[in-house]
Amino acid sequence: MTTLRPAEAYALWAPRYAAETVISALEYVAVESLGVELRGRRLLDVGCGIARRLTQARESGVALAVGVDLTPRMLAEAREGELLAAADVRAIPVADAAFDVVWCRLVLGHLSDLDAAYAELARVCARGGRVVVTDFHPDAVAAGHRRTFRDAEGVVQEIEHHVHTPRAHRRAAARAGLTLVQRFDRVVGETVRGFYERADRLDVYEQQRGLAVVLGLAFVRA
Ligand SMILES: C[S@@+](CC[C@H](N)C(=O)[O-])C[C@H]1O[C@@H](n2cnc3c(N)ncnc32)[C@H](O)[C@@H]1O
Repeated sequence: MTTLRPAEAYALWAPRYAAETVISALEYVAVESLGVELRGRRLLDVGCGIARRLTQARESGVALAVGVDLTPRMLAEAREGELLAAADVRAIPVADAAFDVVWCRLVLGHLSDLDAAYAELARVCARGGRVVVTDFHPDAVAAGHRRTFRDAEGVVQEIEHHVHTPRAHRRAAARAGLTLVQRFDRVVGETVRGFYERADRLDVYEQQRGLAVVLGLAFVRA
């Protein structure tokens, strides 16, 4: 199987990206459970994809919600009216300290190096603000899992992914002025059993139960 670069992969995945997966469902629940206050805050979602999390965040009473993503085809699938721009996490086109909460969800594993990304995430976050990062868990990669999706022809495609340990995330974040305040490791379990059941793959569920597939880190901007 050829591994696709992120921009090429997500351009192909975009029309079907709205369908939640085991990973996205676990990631959503985990970020919600962090309890980072959004009401009245300015929220930036970096690597927002189809901006579905931004749309959901509007129900929490955010003061401002903006998304950026590398792949214009993903942004084109967003709900009309979202404030969006095409940009790379390593060069975010917004002013310093312009947001109170900055998300970067399931994006950084697509980059070989974390420093430039964390520098930008920290730069755009106001002092005392929160930066929330999630990634495909290194344990999942070690267990042989890859970042894949089915294209329009039903062919399984793999997306380029780089393993970053929790320590590597923490260190790159610290170099950018971010202090870790919370970490989570989300495992395959009851929350996502239905995905396997609907696919008639409960045997796979039993094999994967307890495997960490999503890593999450919440930082405060000093
Ligand atoms: C797994 S999707 C996650 C989308 C969204 N955060 C979510 O949770 O629904 C990864 C997204 O990261 C974007 N992406 C990949 N590399 C990026 C980069 N260097 N800068 C900005 N976005 C990037 C892709 O275009 C894709 O939309």
